[in-house]
Amino acid sequence: MRIVPSLVLLLCAGPALGQPAPASTAPEPPSIARGAELWGKCRACHTIEPNGRNIVGPRLHGIFGRTAGTQPDYRYSEAMKTSGLIWTEETLDAYLAATQDFMPGTKMYGGLAIPQDRADLIAWLRQQAGSSR
Ligand code: HEC
Repeated sequence: MRIVPSLVLLLCAGPALGQPAPASTAPEPPSIARGAELWGKCRACHTIEPNGRNIVGPRLHGIFGRTAGTQPDYRYSEAMKTSGLIWTEETLDAYLAATQDFMPGTKMYGGLAIPQDRADLIAWLRQQAGSSR
């Protein structure tokens, strides 16, 4: 049974290395209600309504399926504009986990360090933001 301690070590080492964890690693199923509360961490800079305005950051309506940095009435960083990234649950999770590491030069700082928080918020965003496709 010598394999067991090294397996435990491996499982613990992953998150400790600070790598962006996919939403699926969240321990609990996503809670949309918690996600709604966590939106409080975004709403100072973002709106979610269909005709919401840009604040410090761009409106996020229709974000899923859209290419990053393509809202015509918002001035994005070069990093965001040229990223070619498509917003999905996975890419949003990775961005929110470590904005500057994931996209060096982005104008957005912060995010959500805890995988469960990201899973909850993304589930809520999924429900609220609609899809651009
Ligand atoms: C202090 C202000 C601020 C906060 C708080 C903030 N953002 Fe941002 N966000 C920005 C800015 C500024 C940009 C534009 C980044 C760029 O151009 O590099 C941005 C860009 C984005 C984008 C890319 C939009 C697009 O059109 O491609 C997403 C998605 C996003 N933010 C999600 C979030 C979420 C979810 C939260 C809450 C956890 C959040 N942001 C919190 C300022 C903020």
